[in-house]
Amino acid sequence: MTLTNYLIIGSGVAGLTFAIKIADQFPDRKITIITKASADESNTKYAQGGIAIVTNETEDSYQKHIDDTLICGDGLCDVAVVKMVVTEGPERLKELIAWGAKFDTNAMGCFDLGKEGGHSQNRVVHHKDQTGFEIERTILEQVRQKENIIVLDHHFALDLITENNRCLGAYALNQKTNKIITFQSDFTLLAAGGIGHLYGHTTNPVIATGDGIAMASRANAVIKDMEFIQFHPTALYEGSSGSAFLISEAVRGFGAYLRTKNGQRFMLDYDEREELASRDIVSQSIDMELKKSGDECVYLDCTHLDMEAFTKHFPMIYERCKSIGIDIAKDWIPVVPAQHYLCGGIVVDKDGKTSIENLFACGECSRTGLHGANRLASNSLLEALVYSDKIYRYLAKASLKKQDSKNIISDWTAVNQPEISSDFITNMKAELQLLMRKNAGIVRNDTDLISAKTQLLLWQNELEALSKTHQINTKLRELQNMITVGYLIVQHSIERTDNRGGFMKTIVATKAITNPLLDYPEEALF
Ligand code: FAD
Ligand code: SIN
Repeated sequence: MTLTNYLIIGSGVAGLTFAIKIADQFPDRKITIITKASADESNTKYAQGGIAIVTNETEDSYQKHIDDTLICGDGLCDVAVVKMVVTEGPERLKELIAWGAKFDTNAMGCFDLGKEGGHSQNRVVHHKDQTGFEIERTILEQVRQKENIIVLDHHFALDLITENNRCLGAYALNQKTNKIITFQSDFTLLAAGGIGHLYGHTTNPVIATGDGIAMASRANAVIKDMEFIQFHPTALYEGSSGSAFLISEAVRGFGAYLRTKNGQRFMLDYDEREELASRDIVSQSIDMELKKSGDECVYLDCTHLDMEAFTKHFPMIYERCKSIGIDIAKDWIPVVPAQHYLCGGIVVDKDGKTSIENLFACGECSRTGLHGANRLASNSLLEALVYSDKIYRYLAKASLKKQDSKNIISDWTAVNQPEISSDFITNMKAELQLLMRKNAGIVRNDTDLISAKTQLLLWQNELEALSKTHQINTKLRELQNMITVGYLIVQHSIERTDNRGGFMKTIVATKAITNPLLDYPEEALF
């Protein structure tokens, strides 16, 4: 048994910023961060566009940012949460800068503000096209300097430990020694990120398997809005599935056009904001165009843009395209939508508290009410920064009841048996990803959702039986978690009867599949 005051599961922006603050507040208390890969691996590290924050009140205003967020969320945002998050942005940005993060400025020394879909103003603070990398670098460096923070990388959280709806800590597998550790903590923070690899074709790195949400679900925490999966319109099309390289929405904010193979600027037909409509609308429009044409991708045309300025703002995108033979100055970039973000998750209140006592959730695994039916671009990093601060403030001031040290927590019951073959897990994972792309993609229908639900239940039962007779390992647990989260997405999609934001359901069932990457129902919309 390992005792700690604060147990943090995940080392992205949500987990690390909370850790820094609580460590400074209570130098005599122990903070333990467990994270399943190397400490910097996270969705955070790959964030490109930046953080949406009102910094220029001459042209922009809190009200405009609030309105854009509400329009994007399509009537389902919590207005009080939106106001709180938007107005606290500037303070959180100051902290990041004080910790050492660098953001691009213009010749006048003001922030060089990018624009993305759904924003009425330029307000995205960024570090070239590598904002997430800069943030993760900065906060990890801060964490490393705190003597009361222990970072345990390659430690995979298996399950929360709860008793009478109170969280007592978590079990975690040390992936290097294969030992399962029991962590007893006063307070536990789930900051375990997104779910991209349920879909296989995603902008997320492989760590995004929904573990936090699955753990919370097994502990009976309230989970909501799982039907609102965000598909980013412009992932680089390379003809394969797996993690896809993102072409930031800020590239369209910089003036790039979306075109069909024949050169048509199709967004003019769908939304008056054209290429800068919110990403639910752009993804759905691309989906329709691909179904009409049978093509495998559409194109992003940057050839008319100022290339010197482009390469300054987007050096990584420029180089990545070049590495596969695309000269952005002359060639169009082939793009398709890919799973990108989950708007729903573990329900938290304005202090980041879940429905389980002493359990908090922050970042992409949480559902705060900020995003509603669709997240406004670059509001995710902002949400994590604001909520990690909220949780810190709540825990800093409250004379909260610590765990009773007499609590007896039993260790994980290990099964001394062989592991399930990795081929079995790889195959079931591939089938799961195909099922999610096909039956729970951009456009869904109840027939496909109900059949997916049946299949997910079968897999869930099969794995549960197998896990009783086989040793637990990361791959098995991730697969179980992905199936649990897949079930929540499908169930919430069945329950939703109106199309909102990123959620679209039709009454037409899937027929043939024409696009091996996207696997969308061919005639769902016509
Ligand atoms: P993450 O950063 O994903 O961190 C989760 C952590 O949990 C990881 O360290 C992971 O290893 C760990 N973990 C997971 N499961 C376990 C487990 N079982 N045990 C132990 N550890 C575990 N948002 C914006 O606002 N602006 C952008 O410009 C932007 N661009 C993006 C570009 C890309 C390519 C992607 C993928 C996302 C982008 N987003 C952007 C979204 C944003 O980056 C994420 O939503 C945000 O960083 C999530 O932060 P987080 O701390 O909640 O999760
Ligand atoms: C992007 O740069 O397009 C991603 C922004 C986001 O996910 O908010």
